Amino acid sequence: MSHRVCPPWVGYFLLNPLRRLFENPEKILGPFVREGMIVLEPGCGMGYFTLPLASMVGPKGRIVAAEIQEKMLSVLSRRARKAGLLDRIDLRHIGEKGYNFEDLSDQVDMAVAIHMVHEVPDRAVFFKAVWDTLKPGGKMFVLEPKGHVSQMEFEQTMATAKQAGFRPEALSVRDGSRKRLLIK
Ligand SMILES: C[S@@+](CC[C@H](N)C(=O)[O-])C[C@H]1O[C@@H](n2cnc3c(N)ncnc32)[C@H](O)[C@@H]1O
Repeated sequence: MSHRVCPPWVGYFLLNPLRRLFENPEKILGPFVREGMIVLEPGCGMGYFTLPLASMVGPKGRIVAAEIQEKMLSVLSRRARKAGLLDRIDLRHIGEKGYNFEDLSDQVDMAVAIHMVHEVPDRAVFFKAVWDTLKPGGKMFVLEPKGHVSQMEFEQTMATAKQAGFRPEALSVRDGSRKRLLIK
């Protein structure tokens, strides 16, 4: 289902607390996430963003953390339990049958795909699956790594998102960052 997938050792590396210096989850996602929201996070890895998201949505909210690698989910599960946040995180393994998001149809307030879209081989299928989960007016935040994803590849990905129905809103293009807010 995927190519160029980040291995578990990189998953551990991505949990390094120094990452907060240049990718602070509260600063990046705080403007969009509110208490009580349902947030879908495909490609959650070991949960660098998942645990802060779970704190942001509070006890009445829910994070659906979806992954193709079970190892990422098992480490995330352990970390979430330790942080006392596991009860608001729905861990989902995405297997060969594809995205198992049918029960989320029109339920999700916000989807967050960070450093993962470039690993997805069929982005049209991916964006359609996320689109179906979102409430009308729901948002999807996409952030890609500059080191791996050229501006041209990023714009092609955004064109695919547009074909799925999303309306992209530029957040900041001045620094050449690969991030967009997509609106359903
Ligand atoms: C580079 S890691 C980023 C993890 C996390 N978002 C972060 O920023 O720390 C990308 C993750 O996306 C997952 N992934 C790749 N393709 C996927 C797909 N089609 N659906 C869900 N997860 C996927 C990989 O298994 C990997 O854990």
